[in-house]
Amino acid sequence: MSDQYEVLGKAPGPKELKELVSGDSHVTIKKLSAGYGKMEILHDFDLSVGKAQSLCLIGPNGAGKSTILHSIYGFTNIFSGQIEIEGKVITKLTPAEKLKSCGIAYILQDNSVFPDMTVEENLLMGSYIKENTEDSYQEAEKIFEKYERLRNRRSQPAKVLSGGERRLLEISRALVMKPSVLLIDEPSIGLEPRYIDMVFEILRDLQQNEKKTIILVEQNAKKGLEFSDIGYVLVSGQTAIAGRGNDLIKNPDVGRLFLGG
Ligand SMILES: Nc1ncnc2c1ncn2[C@@H]1O[C@H](COP(=O)(O)OP(=O)(O)OP(=O)(O)O)[C@@H](O)[C@H]1O
Ligand SMILES: [Mg+2]
Repeated sequence: MSDQYEVLGKAPGPKELKELVSGDSHVTIKKLSAGYGKMEILHDFDLSVGKAQSLCLIGPNGAGKSTILHSIYGFTNIFSGQIEIEGKVITKLTPAEKLKSCGIAYILQDNSVFPDMTVEENLLMGSYIKENTEDSYQEAEKIFEKYERLRNRRSQPAKVLSGGERRLLEISRALVMKPSVLLIDEPSIGLEPRYIDMVFEILRDLQQNEKKTIILVEQNAKKGLEFSDIGYVLVSGQTAIAGRGNDLIKNPDVGRLFLGG
């Protein structure tokens, strides 16, 4: 751990993490060690989040935040430990199986809209894995009903969308599969302030009204922690601090290191 972050101390245990969960745990990670190839990035990492709760991961570049989402989704090499959804072990399932049978959807950090395809085609790409296409069309219609910004551009190529609308399309594409868990890497990256607020309002609606469980990584620590029920500060592949989002905003160490205070 680099000197700057040494003050943050050692990882909170599973018991402390469990106290932040309301109701039963929806996603649980137990003593996970995972990485890429032979390189271990996460060391004995624990996480717990309840149904329809939101959890935000913050921390310096390279801490392993994206690697946590990659591990839940099935993109990393898992050396030990396990991942559970509603108590069912899913550690070794493929991303396709996770999407299909556990309702986990992943929204990537990188721009993943296909610029020359229409908004509607982009949206339906989210259901490529589904056998029942009628169901996907119905979900897509619901999304168009709900979001006027997408409805108005439905038949236009996605390259005409603004940055905020593109992010909305990326989130909506994941929703076509009716997931119960949304993994979102840096929802606010590259967006103007007014679009950042729009994206967080959309996420809030999905959490509160559609009861989605949301795990997000956010570089904008203030926005991410304000939004989230639970916050973890990740340093060098381990959690240094965990708490309620609102409490972490008031934590002086978090303020100094991540909120520019
Ligand atoms: N596909 C990959 N193959 C090999 N190493 C990787 C891969 N992806 C990430 N890493 C390494 O894993 C470590 C953690 O990366 P990760 O992307 O999880 O960090 P992060 O906390 O999300 O950082 P950032 O804030 O910059 O997005 C880094 O040292 C990175 O170089
Ligand atoms: Mg990252």
